[in-house]
Amino acid sequence: MSTETAPIQPLDLDPHETPDPAEPSPPADDVQQSAAAPGEEKDKKTPAVRALVLTGHGGYDKIKLQLRTPEEGGVPARDQVLVRVKACGLNFAELMGRQGLYDALAAPPVTMGMECAGVVEAVGEDVAERKAGDRVMVLSSSGLWQELVLVPADQTFIMPDAMSFQEGAALPVNYLTAHMMLFQMANLRPGKSVLVHMAAGGVGIAATQLCQTVSGVTVFGTASASKHKVILQGGLSHAIDYRTKDYVEEIRTISPKGLDIVLDPLGGSDTQKGFGLLKPMGTIVVFGAANSVTGQKKNLLAMAKTWYNQLSISTLKLMQANKSVCGFHLGYLKDFTLIRQTMDTLLGLYVQGKIKPRIDSTFHFEEVTDAMRRMHERQNIGKVILLPEPKKGEEKEQEKEEEKEQEQEKEEEPAEASAIPQEEEEAKPEEVKEEQG
Ligand SMILES: NC(=O)c1ccc[n+]([C@@H]2O[C@H](COP(=O)([O-])OP(=O)(O)OC[C@H]3O[C@@H](n4cnc5c(N)ncnc54)[C@H](OP(=O)(O)O)[C@@H]3O)[C@@H](O)[C@H]2O)c1
Repeated sequence: MSTETAPIQPLDLDPHETPDPAEPSPPADDVQQSAAAPGEEKDKKTPAVRALVLTGHGGYDKIKLQLRTPEEGGVPARDQVLVRVKACGLNFAELMGRQGLYDALAAPPVTMGMECAGVVEAVGEDVAERKAGDRVMVLSSSGLWQELVLVPADQTFIMPDAMSFQEGAALPVNYLTAHMMLFQMANLRPGKSVLVHMAAGGVGIAATQLCQTVSGVTVFGTASASKHKVILQGGLSHAIDYRTKDYVEEIRTISPKGLDIVLDPLGGSDTQKGFGLLKPMGTIVVFGAANSVTGQKKNLLAMAKTWYNQLSISTLKLMQANKSVCGFHLGYLKDFTLIRQTMDTLLGLYVQGKIKPRIDSTFHFEEVTDAMRRMHERQNIGKVILLPEPKKGEEKEQEKEEEKEQEQEKEEEPAEASAIPQEEEEAKPEEVKEEQG
């Protein structure tokens, strides 16, 4: 493996794997050229690609746009494919990863990105089911926010003809998560009631659409008030503004007996509230801890509060309550057969027009800060997409940058990149917003 790029990680790799110590630390400018390791002629001949690299934990400035030599010179191993990336998905987990709150992401420096869509450029000799020119979605635990990626072929999924690259980048994480929670864990059936928090977000919209594939399902959703019109049009039965109203009271008014299913991406006291809202035989699926994130920087107080307020229940009490508590984390799911089967189901639903990712906004790689800010500031309705292609007008700047680097390389021996500090940012005193409800 080249020491020049953060590796694509198969989903089942040890999440605590540390990066290759030989990997050069990225320098501090905004668009940077990583130095080629001495003797790596193969890599030097391959044009550099743009990649978004997490260089340390903290605020927006920790993600750098770098020019990097493609891994293995862009030559696929036997079971791999080389994909030219056209669009990437931004996930809440990446906001947490930037802050150092996402265990499934390797320590920096690491190229971020769990999903993308693009075109296969080359395949390894053992790959029979993919060919150059195939349009594919890709799923990985990280490494996909770059122009060219080398990935195991079985982590790619052929896109339907009608699907755009932006939709392809928006679908895998959100829809796999929503489908597995609703159908594998909570056994959604006709006539049931479901609470979807963050209902205007990526997973929230996916869950709402999937609920509509089953007859007579009532979907309650919490979201900021400005988004209610859109999500009600998208099929939500009841929208609740958690910022101004007590969602437990609102739900009890409409459905006094409670709910069959609660999807909980918030954690802390909201898990307790969700458990309390369940009817007997109901199921809560805990799949996130968004309450521990309050803004750009890590907030220790919010983290402590979320941890302290989490649901803690003995199995005896659980038995007496006749309720189920489940946990779901796609990043730790190693069953790729199940993932593939679920993806087949999702693609069938897409082709039938029953599901369709809603794209909120698109940002070029150089605008990753704006993309993340949009999510942190709770403005998105649907998926935020990152585009590897340079923003118009920036191409020339990049070409100049590359030419300059090449001239410098000719003049100098490749120098070892200096180490960057990787200490986690200490939490700054910030306003702590109340947890939902
Ligand atoms: N376990 C898994 O495998 C898995 C997979 C995917 C996602 N997730 C989890 O699912 C949740 C949704 O993820 P997503 O990627 O689809 O993101 P998303 O819902 O698009 O996230 C942004 C939206 O969430 C709402 N929100 C609630 N609390 C927030 C907070 N503390 N900071 C910022 N926004 C907040 C905001 O909308 P409103 O104000 O309108 O509510 C915001 O616009 C996250 O908790 C994520 O960790 C888990």
